[in-house]
Amino acid sequence: MLQADLIIEHAHMMTISSLGEIVSGTLVVRGEAIIDIIDGDTHPYTAKRIIDAGGALVLPGFVDCHTHLVHSGSRANELQYRLQGMSYQEIQQRGGGIYASVRATRAADPETLYRESLERANMCLEHGTTTAEIKTGYGLEPAAEKKMFDVIHRLNKESDLETVATFLGPHVYPEDQEPEKYLDWLLHEGLDLAKDQAEFVDIYCDIGAYSFADTEQFLKAAKEKGLALKIHSGQFESLGATGLAADMSAVSVDHLDHVAPAEFDALLRSDTVPVFLPGCSYYLRSTYPDARPYLDAGMPVALATDYNPGTCPSLSLPIMMSLAVMHMGFTTEEALKAVTINAAKAINREDRIGSIEKGKQADIVITSVKNFDDMIAMFGVNCVDIVIKKGKTI
Ligand code: NIG
Ligand code: FE
Repeated sequence: MLQADLIIEHAHMMTISSLGEIVSGTLVVRGEAIIDIIDGDTHPYTAKRIIDAGGALVLPGFVDCHTHLVHSGSRANELQYRLQGMSYQEIQQRGGGIYASVRATRAADPETLYRESLERANMCLEHGTTTAEIKTGYGLEPAAEKKMFDVIHRLNKESDLETVATFLGPHVYPEDQEPEKYLDWLLHEGLDLAKDQAEFVDIYCDIGAYSFADTEQFLKAAKEKGLALKIHSGQFESLGATGLAADMSAVSVDHLDHVAPAEFDALLRSDTVPVFLPGCSYYLRSTYPDARPYLDAGMPVALATDYNPGTCPSLSLPIMMSLAVMHMGFTTEEALKAVTINAAKAINREDRIGSIEKGKQADIVITSVKNFDDMIAMFGVNCVDIVIKKGKTI
């Protein structure tokens, strides 16, 4: 018998790898890694811990490649404003929106900010997310941006959620500083901070946020410093930054509710991952974009929650998959790929996570359903039963 640390038997696996779907198989883990996958129930392994999945669906751990998980305070009050017909921009102009979260996040002491964020990280895990990208951008001044980075890194160390840090200093312009001054900080000290603390930089290019010209200047400066690029683009209007980011080899372009034909073509000739965020369309009650052209063109389309207190206060990737299937033209299998291997690609981690494959990190979700369609059908019901992160059962 060969010694392993964990064996999952009688698993209905969707591997999202060349192994495809295995109706009843065995998954073998040693240390933090998957060491074998067997199509069938007989195997040569022994381990201290054996989980009998009993035919349940077993999936790669989900990857949430776009979140604003670290912030203080709630903006549930905006729900009533929205129901009264106020737009996202109107709420922001009245000092709500991102500004409300900036005030709360600046005021929070580091320990409180960590505790609030840890609760959300645990919620991610409960819903099957084993890795999450997290952005700064509720500080909008040096100390508060650094405080957000500290929380993102501490979560990575002390919680079971793996986190990936993105600098979103250019989220909006701060209320309490000249825009020129802040832009100057972003382009110099801000990017130095990002170089030291983040894997990616991001900028919110849209009405009420950063212009195309500011975006171009920021992305160019970031690229010169060797930073990998992400962008929020086309959520409310297309300002042309989707095409720009694709032409600059951004790792991902996120939102994509409004995309000009030339921008679509730029995405097509790039390696950039298009990331859709259906939770925003749901919570802002806007039209869902059609992902079919992107999928048909063979792009590695990803889905994420965009968790944030204003436009999508949900951390459930299964719900995002349901919305994408029901409203955006995804097949169920495309939706699963979008929160696993393609989402991993959107954070430069497709070699390590996002599929059940020999040698990959043992990030696994065991569900309470037999088939993936059951999970998509039961929207709002948490079908995640057991979560394994780096070989450890959580
Ligand atoms: O991705 N729209 C820009 N940024 C976030 C929302 C942040 C907020 O409203 O706090 C987004 O939707
Ligand atoms: Fe976002």
